[in-house]
Amino acid sequence: MGLVGAGFVGPHHVDAVRRLGYVDIVAVAGSSQASAQAKADALHIGKAYGSYEELLNDPGIQVVHNATPNHLHYAVNSAAIAKGKHVVSDKPLAMTAAEAKKLLDQATRAGIVHAVTFNYRGNPLVQQARLAIARGDIGTPTFVHGQYIQDWLLKDTDYSWRLEPDKGGASSALGDIGSHWCDLAQHMSGLRITEVLGEITTTIRTRKKPTGSREAFATDRGGATVDVDIKVEDLASVLVRFDNGAKGAFSVGQVCAGHKNDLQVEVCGSKASMKWKQEEQNELWIGHRDGPNQILQKDPSLLDEAVRGYAHLPGGHQEAWADAFCNLMRDIYGFIAAGKSPTDAHPPTFATFEDGYRANCVVEAILESAKAGAWTRVKY
Ligand SMILES: NC(=O)c1ccc[n+]([C@@H]2O[C@H](COP(=O)([O-])OP(=O)(O)OC[C@H]3O[C@@H](n4cnc5c(N)ncnc54)[C@H](O)[C@@H]3O)[C@@H](O)[C@H]2O)c1
Repeated sequence: MGLVGAGFVGPHHVDAVRRLGYVDIVAVAGSSQASAQAKADALHIGKAYGSYEELLNDPGIQVVHNATPNHLHYAVNSAAIAKGKHVVSDKPLAMTAAEAKKLLDQATRAGIVHAVTFNYRGNPLVQQARLAIARGDIGTPTFVHGQYIQDWLLKDTDYSWRLEPDKGGASSALGDIGSHWCDLAQHMSGLRITEVLGEITTTIRTRKKPTGSREAFATDRGGATVDVDIKVEDLASVLVRFDNGAKGAFSVGQVCAGHKNDLQVEVCGSKASMKWKQEEQNELWIGHRDGPNQILQKDPSLLDEAVRGYAHLPGGHQEAWADAFCNLMRDIYGFIAAGKSPTDAHPPTFATFEDGYRANCVVEAILESAKAGAWTRVKY
């Protein structure tokens, strides 16, 4: 494995892959030799490269993980595919749906294994809900709703490259975390988003940008700043139509005090409902009309055989974000190590560039809808 970009999430890729026990972490690439070396030292990785191009020339690297800011996703992913490497890209797959499609086509032609880290799929109770819903336990899904709200951009002193369209893309909150909600809602429900009606808002229109660099989730530590106008959304509300006729609604925001990583998806069906909350991820809520509601705890002995393998500890022993991330890596690397072809069936937690492309398409449709003030069909 070689890692490009070791800011907030990159080290979690390393941690998850290390836990597999059979993958060597060969090198890390940063934006300069000095920053790459500092990351290599901190993460105990043998080699440091001052550019991703150098890392891609390393014949010892078979799988490239891309955890750079969004504006570099296309270039790094495309160059890695051109070198015949397998690619694990963080989300969003690209800045635009058109770029994401190009990556999907290039990866397909090259025959490499391609993955996007929609890591919430890796939670055992997400897999349990998906399986139960597909089996018909809640009847026909009619309404899928939820939210993904955070508070780390609440103050005007909070800043991230995600707020700059040339680095984060035309969308901020929707591309950053709305893409997770859309993937998870479709993954759990088994439905596809076909049409959207969005409203987007920029609640903080001027922010204080630090003149030095700052990694994601780092809070204001003083220092010089410059006032900048913000053009992208930090809040969004979306109505959704699904391919089976089901309806949906979700809200996304990074300016909601007290909400740290509050991702929730509920699927209401003709017989029952199921809700998974990221911040209480060891419980699955099952709602009934004619009897008491239930809480299914993450306990391997209570899960279906087919998803039991995603839970690694007995009931009452909490598993969390990093464990779910590791489940993804187990599925992705298991697939690669088994010599499977990208056209073979993928394990469920393993989102591909096709899923990444679809998420880009949904976000673009929401932006288009918000601009037009009208329902907009998602063009896949
Ligand atoms: N799956 C998830 O849950 C999740 C969580 C956080 C971030 N992400 C995604 O991961 C990506 C990175 O986000 P982050 O929060 O870690 O950002 P970050 O700003 O903390 O880290 C990005 C890193 O990339 C480095 N970098 C910049 N230019 C580079 C270059 N040319 N070559 C190599 N490295 C370079 C930066 O120095 C920094 O260390 C984003 O696309 C984001 O959407 C995903």
